[in-house]
Amino acid sequence: MYKKKRILLIITGGIAAYKMPELVRRLRERDIEVTCILTKAGREFVAPLALSAVSGNRVYENLFDLDEDSEMGHIQLSRSADLVVVAPATADMMAKAATGLANDLASTTLLATDTPIMMAPAMNVRMWNHPATQKNVSTLKDRGVVMLGPDEGDMACGEFGFGRMVDPMDIVAAVQDFFTPHRPLSGKKAIVTSGPTHEAIDPVRYIANRSSGKQGHAIAAELAKSGADVTLISGPTSLAVPENVTFIPVESARDMLAACQSNLPADIVVCAAAVADWRVDQEAGQKLKKDGSGTIPALALTENPDILATLSQMTQGRAPLVVGFAAETENVIEHAKAKLARKGCDWILANDVSPSTGTFGGNENSIHFIANNQCEDWPRLTKLEVATRLVERIAQRMKAEDQ
Ligand code: CTP
Repeated sequence: MYKKKRILLIITGGIAAYKMPELVRRLRERDIEVTCILTKAGREFVAPLALSAVSGNRVYENLFDLDEDSEMGHIQLSRSADLVVVAPATADMMAKAATGLANDLASTTLLATDTPIMMAPAMNVRMWNHPATQKNVSTLKDRGVVMLGPDEGDMACGEFGFGRMVDPMDIVAAVQDFFTPHRPLSGKKAIVTSGPTHEAIDPVRYIANRSSGKQGHAIAAELAKSGADVTLISGPTSLAVPENVTFIPVESARDMLAACQSNLPADIVVCAAAVADWRVDQEAGQKLKKDGSGTIPALALTENPDILATLSQMTQGRAPLVVGFAAETENVIEHAKAKLARKGCDWILANDVSPSTGTFGGNENSIHFIANNQCEDWPRLTKLEVATRLVERIAQRMKAEDQ
């Protein structure tokens, strides 16, 4: 049976709040039911009566209005919605949401909900650029909050820059997208490698690296959301397995290669794992013991198979898209271009993994996207945003190939 989609719209105190009756109208035209929460500051910019008139619903303002006799408590208010939209989202409300403060109806609702949340920030450019706000934005994004904008432009305060709320029609488009997900990769099969590999020295010791797997897992999740049939082959990480992917846990580079090979053919291969280049030549069957003489064992190493190069070669002429990463600490672009040629893949996402960048194990990445010997510098993005951008690129490429 058809069920109307429901949005809980939280309006906080930004000038753009005056545009919210228009947003509510546009959403209702698309058969989306809207209930509004208006903060005290929001009330300075838009009248509750205007909102209740256009939404056809009561506007909720105070935490303590919601007694047992009222139609809904704040928990119920958020749970009965399919999506929570905060627009305009002030720096103050984002700070509350990021830290888990709950001292009014809007912030309490945000803390109590497990419904997906979108926020359309609106504030002065300096407030937006302030490290405190940026930290809050990054925390919220990591928790899965979708940020819409802000846009760049003239502001009500007379300044110019980022901080303007996106156009209400952009919010409508994002909401529609959310309710009817775009699945440009349905019917495509993807293999993603992620995480580090562990190369055993003996039954209790191994060689590893600092990879967290965040980037590879985010790419697998994003490919799955776009409709691809995803197999994620990962070395040991502490991450949750993304939804709707087939997960194959592995330990060593050789296990990872074997798992990849047995899952071919694929239309898309993304090698994001930080594969150990070397393994111990002779893995000891028993724990290596100190023999009391003070002799230190010398570990003879041998080279691991190169998974990316092997898969690029195996799939040549069969038109899949093979994407690799390049982890570099110097001459990033030059080394990455050489790596692309050496491995024979289609695209390389190069990143500087020097400790000072915080990339390895961190939540953000600065990517240089290399294809056809051209380099495109992406801004510093969260690993989730890198995944979204990459998957958009993959979808464009697949569409072009299918035409
Ligand atoms: N890679 C792989 N198998 C390996 C080594 C690397 O599949 N044995 C893949 C990685 O998943 C990544 C790309 O190759 O997509 C580049 O990895 P990177 O560690 O940057 O480079 P290496 O090939 O290890 O070369 P170097 O150590 O010389 O930088």
